[in-house]
Amino acid sequence: MTSQRIMNLLKEMTLEEKAAQLMQLVAAFYDDGDEGQITGPMEAMGISEAEVNRAGSVLGVSEAEKIIKIQQAHLAKDRLGIPLLFMADIVHGFKTIFPIPLAMGCSWDTELAESSAAVAAKEAAVSGLHVTFAPMADLVRDPRWGRVMESTGEDPYLNALFARAMVRGFQGSDLTRDTSHVAACVKHFAAYGLAEGGRDYNTVDLSERSLREYYLPAYKAALDEGCEMVMTSFNTVDSIPASGNRKLMRDLLRGEWGFDGVLISDWAAIREMIAHGAAEDDREAALKAITAGVDIEMMTPTYVHHLPQLVAEGLVDEALVDEAVIRILELKEKLGLFDNPLRGADPEAEREVIYCDAHRQVAQELATKSCVLLKNEGVLPLHREQKVAVVGPFAQNGDILGSWSWAGSRETALQLGASMVKLAGDNVVLAEGNGIMSMSKEQLQQADAAVQEADVIVLALGEASEMSGEASSRSNIQLPGAQLQLIQAMKRHGKPLAVVLFNGRPLDLHGVIDQVDAVLEAWFPGSEGGAAIADLLYGVANPSGKLTMSFPYAVGQIPVYYNHYNTGRPKPAEDTEEKYVSQYLDIPNAPLLPFGYGLSYTTFDYSALELSSEVMTPEQSLKVTVEVRNTGELRGVETVQLYVRDIAGEVVRPMKELKDFHKVDLAPGETAKVVFELGEDKLRYYHSDLSFASDAGSFEVFVGPNSRDTLQARFRLIK
Ligand code: GLC
Repeated sequence: MTSQRIMNLLKEMTLEEKAAQLMQLVAAFYDDGDEGQITGPMEAMGISEAEVNRAGSVLGVSEAEKIIKIQQAHLAKDRLGIPLLFMADIVHGFKTIFPIPLAMGCSWDTELAESSAAVAAKEAAVSGLHVTFAPMADLVRDPRWGRVMESTGEDPYLNALFARAMVRGFQGSDLTRDTSHVAACVKHFAAYGLAEGGRDYNTVDLSERSLREYYLPAYKAALDEGCEMVMTSFNTVDSIPASGNRKLMRDLLRGEWGFDGVLISDWAAIREMIAHGAAEDDREAALKAITAGVDIEMMTPTYVHHLPQLVAEGLVDEALVDEAVIRILELKEKLGLFDNPLRGADPEAEREVIYCDAHRQVAQELATKSCVLLKNEGVLPLHREQKVAVVGPFAQNGDILGSWSWAGSRETALQLGASMVKLAGDNVVLAEGNGIMSMSKEQLQQADAAVQEADVIVLALGEASEMSGEASSRSNIQLPGAQLQLIQAMKRHGKPLAVVLFNGRPLDLHGVIDQVDAVLEAWFPGSEGGAAIADLLYGVANPSGKLTMSFPYAVGQIPVYYNHYNTGRPKPAEDTEEKYVSQYLDIPNAPLLPFGYGLSYTTFDYSALELSSEVMTPEQSLKVTVEVRNTGELRGVETVQLYVRDIAGEVVRPMKELKDFHKVDLAPGETAKVVFELGEDKLRYYHSDLSFASDAGSFEVFVGPNSRDTLQARFRLIK
């Protein structure tokens, strides 16, 4: 029910003021000389001072003092004293930077992810921010796309759990009273991650059934958790740009799902309908967007320039403009801004809260749990009395925060080399080795010298942070050639070689994993990353991460993902002699490393998979039990994964679908009996008529340490 305050305000507002309330600008329009965080094409906006003074929200400011100054100056000028909303991209941390979401997902720890979002919200709120443009809930299957770093991966079930956790962490339970939380904005609606060729902003085209089955669940989960806002995606959905897509926004998001919160366009996405070829000009773009139900226009002026005229000509019902304004004012009211326009902004508290020890501990714990041990043949963990040479572009490099860390500090990030020296002192020698893209003769000589006395060589390799993230697609997903050469140069020393990878996407690891003894995937681990990795390398912590996105055998294999269909001519085995099956002549079908994969310093044995019955009815649930034993010498955490396959559906069904997982922490020799409850609800899927239901028939259950190496058993659902 809209409050009287807002209804009264709406009555007072002119049509021009209403249109301006729907516009969002960067700080540069308010705070000369400070461009804030520019994240898209800046264009001559051609807007007047008066229009700036009436705008409804600002994006990309990061300090309490600046926000206080901008808000107070705005309120002095705005005729009706409507406070600004301050928004920014706080995707995996604000000033304390957490591992990138693709890493966070590999922790399979939604509680810790929620804690990280709560920390990020606290730091953002004390700096005066009200909304974060997160969680990014785009499902991803193509590592050429730079923004896979922002996603928790290729599985709809796991992405949905993380989306819920992030919304809970960001928003808390009462945004009005609790000014240490911020409103969340799930993005990018919808299916941005399916950009053709992995090329950012490229065409997305898929059936509505697949959209609903794989790409929508995580956005829906965020909204079911109470997410306040949604952001449109740049891409087309069914050939219509999302920001002008009535079917997607009005019918599905607002109609079917009942979302009545604020819908914001992505940067310039409304005007970009012209480039798409879905609008002649700004006027038509504005008409399509307001009709589709987009409330806030980010960084283009089509609403402020054309909505009043469109209403005057009767082409847009003023009620559409009013509903958009009301949604924005209601969010401001919910955040308490009418009573306290500065909300939580507090420069004093900011200095206490930002990057405090408690926050750094959460970041280090999450980084430790997000790293994935991909290979280890007797090299790790290291011992502190060993002589270790750390070589490579990430030996002494603070660029470990990832591409959405604009408010973080590379200078204060804990680097790998320094962190290892902290643990093992003079037994660690640091050499740069080479740059990300190049290696000089001097650098190589320095590396060769550094490793002379070493017992073990640790190669710190990877992508620069700007090689992933927005507008950073790569057609070749190998490590840069200079780094592959460094591996060969270091191999010539004939010493044990361990690689630590800093990267924002699954890589083609040929020339890496087949050339060395151990590989630890560290992704972009955030501000405490060096300390987390050093703990893992020296066994202070035992790696427990599991991949949430497949590593392809080669870029030519993409898209490759675990929940694929079987086809009518499946390849029976990688070494088959059969010709007329679905395969490549030159590479395997299987990814290099599968979804769910991750090693430990100990080993686990799975046995005694049992089902409580071979038959179940929709009213019953199936108990699935398995025994997991720690068969190694070190305590370790294992993420036990449960997958299901529907053998025959009304439409074809994936070979496996993740349905549940349990973490077990086992001492050497200890066995856990892991029990899953599998209900009929987990067997439902979208039929060709888009009904969501299960079918009677046969199912296969799989349990294991990843999506490939599983025990299996069959049951039937009877109706
Ligand atoms: C960018 C991104 C979006 C971000 C927005 C504001 O273009 O696509 O994820 O939230 O602009 O920075």
